[in-house]
Amino acid sequence: MQKFVKVLRSLVMRRPIADLVPDDGVHGLRRVLGAGDLIVLAIGAVIGAGIFSSIGTAVAGEVRDGHVVRYGAGPAVVISFLLLGVVCGLAALCYAELASMIPQAGSAYAYAYATLGELVAWIIGWDLILEYAVGNVAVAIAWAGYLESLLSGMGVHVPAWLFHGYFDVAASSHPEVRALLSTAPHLGGVPILVNLPAFLVVAAVTGLLMVGAKESARVTYVMVLVKLVVLILFVGVGAMHIDASNFHPFAPNGWTGIHQGAAIVFFAYIGFDAISTAAEETKDPQRNMPIGILGGLAICTVIYVVVGLVMTGLVPWAELRVSDPLAFALERAGLPTVQWLVSAGAVVSMAAVLVVFQYGQPRILLAMARDGLLPQRMAHVHPRFKTPWTLTILTGLVVAVGALVADDDATYDLTNIGTLFAFLLVCIGVLVLRVVDPARPRPFRVPAVWVTAPLGALACLWTMAGLPPEAWERFFVWLAIGLVVYLAYGFRHSVLRRRVG
Ligand code: ALA
Repeated sequence: MQKFVKVLRSLVMRRPIADLVPDDGVHGLRRVLGAGDLIVLAIGAVIGAGIFSSIGTAVAGEVRDGHVVRYGAGPAVVISFLLLGVVCGLAALCYAELASMIPQAGSAYAYAYATLGELVAWIIGWDLILEYAVGNVAVAIAWAGYLESLLSGMGVHVPAWLFHGYFDVAASSHPEVRALLSTAPHLGGVPILVNLPAFLVVAAVTGLLMVGAKESARVTYVMVLVKLVVLILFVGVGAMHIDASNFHPFAPNGWTGIHQGAAIVFFAYIGFDAISTAAEETKDPQRNMPIGILGGLAICTVIYVVVGLVMTGLVPWAELRVSDPLAFALERAGLPTVQWLVSAGAVVSMAAVLVVFQYGQPRILLAMARDGLLPQRMAHVHPRFKTPWTLTILTGLVVAVGALVADDDATYDLTNIGTLFAFLLVCIGVLVLRVVDPARPRPFRVPAVWVTAPLGALACLWTMAGLPPEAWERFFVWLAIGLVVYLAYGFRHSVLRRRVG
């Protein structure tokens, strides 16, 4: 009995915050990023597949095999965006407080270890794999989709079986895509359906990240500039072709459509938190982290509302059930040149998202490996580049192989539910830390924390509730697998547990 109580207590062991940054010179990362770099990283992470692709499903809804998977928001997607701006703003404030007081690689994982104990920390770390690695599978697939339309616009036609992964084809409701199951070349009776460009882009990004953080941030700068220019072009030219009759009805599926639309287009907001994974490589993180996170989020919310308004003004909402809705809307408005430019911009934008998430994932795993929850051999930092190279390669491999075969819709949903769950725990964590460690200096404090944080947690739950049941099922299966891995490995090898005894 005593042993049982001891085990239970050890599951909620919290890591002292002072203990979080190792300075053994072996595992430490280089502090090279400033506030400007962080805002660029945030925009680089945030504007991508969500606004270029998942917004189509959010507006028009989704029907599979005659069954409604979700209702669309119609032009009222702008309300979905505003609501999501509030949801993410609340969570962002909590992230900012924790990121400024715990400037360590590992994001919500590290915060949870210091606030809610080891078991919850593990669950979050495991859950963040959904946000980063699974999220990047979806982005890579969307990237390949825009590349395909870009190439076909240039008259280059690549066989479709090299642009669509098996599960993507199997889950499609478009007859011409499903036909690939029989028309693609077969090997031993199995159709060869692979998303080769998605695989290759992840491989290229992985190579870039091996070289180091500052270099990658520089490349991201250029990409961010391109995506802002392209979206301004979309809005500027599109606004002159709006047909106001497309705004009627404004909310065709009422509140349900707004809610379920928000739950999928939430993907467009994922990423502002990703920059907190760079805390350990940030100069003066106390000042720079909050500026980076909140500044990036505010800029993106404004952009999304305007883009959503222009897009739904160009085309009747129900027609936007396509994977490249911005390009489609421009095409329908008779603007082929702008359409081509926007497609090119989408390819660049999503590449930037890939960079930030492929950057974040190894750093979260690094934090977990340092703590002994994953094999410590993985926590090796390259002596010259100062990057977690082993984990960078591992992440690259997993994401690239996933992107080769996976279905994008399923990955959007799974990413969203996992991310929202992490946000929820961060909102709770900030409160717990205020209670258990009130005296610790907080360079950034959440205003009215006892209102803001609980509201943030509820807002995340509300957004999760808009996702289809399949997403919930997959999410619980993922958590169950994580629990088994923890019991089989992390529980026995935890550095903290070994130290405490
Ligand atoms: N927010 C990122 C995107 O939309 C994940 O691609």
